[in-house]
Amino acid sequence: MSFTPLNRPVRAAFVGLGRIYDLNVRAYVGNPDVEVVALVDPSEERRTQRQADWPGARTFASVAEMAASNIEVDAVEALLPIPLHTEGVIELLGHGWHVNLQKPMCNDLADAGRMLAAATVNDRLLRVMENYIFYEPLVRLKDVVASGALGTVSGYHMKMVGSGRGGWDVPASSYEWQFQQMRSGRGILVFDDGWHKLATAIWLFGPVREVRAWVGGTEIVPGVEIDAPSTIVWEHDDGVRGVWDITLATDMYLRSDYYTNDERWEVTGRRGYARVNRCTGRGIQQPSLEVYADGEMRSYHALDDDWASSFRDSGRHWLRWLHTGDGPMLWSGAEAVEVLRFALAAYASSAGGGVGVDPASLE
Ligand SMILES: NC(=O)c1ccc[n+]([C@@H]2O[C@H](COP(=O)([O-])OP(=O)(O)OC[C@H]3O[C@@H](n4cnc5c(N)ncnc54)[C@H](O)[C@@H]3O)[C@@H](O)[C@H]2O)c1
Repeated sequence: MSFTPLNRPVRAAFVGLGRIYDLNVRAYVGNPDVEVVALVDPSEERRTQRQADWPGARTFASVAEMAASNIEVDAVEALLPIPLHTEGVIELLGHGWHVNLQKPMCNDLADAGRMLAAATVNDRLLRVMENYIFYEPLVRLKDVVASGALGTVSGYHMKMVGSGRGGWDVPASSYEWQFQQMRSGRGILVFDDGWHKLATAIWLFGPVREVRAWVGGTEIVPGVEIDAPSTIVWEHDDGVRGVWDITLATDMYLRSDYYTNDERWEVTGRRGYARVNRCTGRGIQQPSLEVYADGEMRSYHALDDDWASSFRDSGRHWLRWLHTGDGPMLWSGAEAVEVLRFALAAYASSAGGGVGVDPASLE
């Protein structure tokens, strides 16, 4: 698309004012790159609650109402339930607004194609927001790998334990659409949270040529299955192999200001390793990044390892880019399709008994 920076603050609207608004909003607060002009949500309670943050913004119960109001909008922060992403984004782009969409982009390649086509037809940008690639411990991990301090990379693993106790409250209405996703075979751990893990793999080591997976399930209440235990293994084009192990610890208490995910990333090189000890929750209470090489451990004690800061920085990056054109812009809709392919390859592999699947071969 032919993008021209606005050269003035972005006039932005939030569409969807639920749980994750609390973190996405951090990019907008006190940011001279943006002016929040509108808030959209069918819930009057949410509109009233969020209006307190932006007294000057207009509020609407639907996107159609906002469009009919003739309010001037440049870009939308789309924080919609996943089942509404495809039609919602096509509608937003159709009104001529750039869109910063929460992940996962959508459930299948056909929908992804429709979304990208809508961006092209309307000459607008569709960004799929990835906050993990702005999380400082992971950014520094990438730097350490690139510096050669670990030697040639031999492989890496990620671990995620979904725990059932602790963290912030998630509204019951969110579970309704999450359960709908689970029933469609797009579980909360492998697909929703997993989007981030697969995105970091591509961000760290590039395109993936083969994926093998074993997606399991655990019934937590009658009729509701969480998609763990699950294990996904893959190989990048450069030969580096990764593995992601997902475990459910329903009764485990995890200290967290947000979701109760106990996560780690560990890259092993020929000379040493580097490990990010936590992300969303406050699992391992050691420095968030540790680097071991040649018999010595280096610990990073002063990183901004509050998970919320990754939302702030991801959003600021987007708004800065819209305002000034400072880039490169991370990440585009096309890059998000690669993440979707990765996830779909895992499902195809698991359905085939763990066979190797090339994400590029999926249609
Ligand atoms: N990046 C991350 O780590 C992360 C974390 C959590 C959620 N998310 C993603 O953020 C998105 C929203 O999740 P959430 O947890 O905030 O959900 P939520 O259910 O708390 O909020 C969704 C909001 O959208 C509103 N809504 C429903 N239909 C609408 C419509 N047609 N127009 C406008 N608003 C509408 C609802 O009333 C609700 O307030 C999802 O895509 C989710 O996967 C991302």
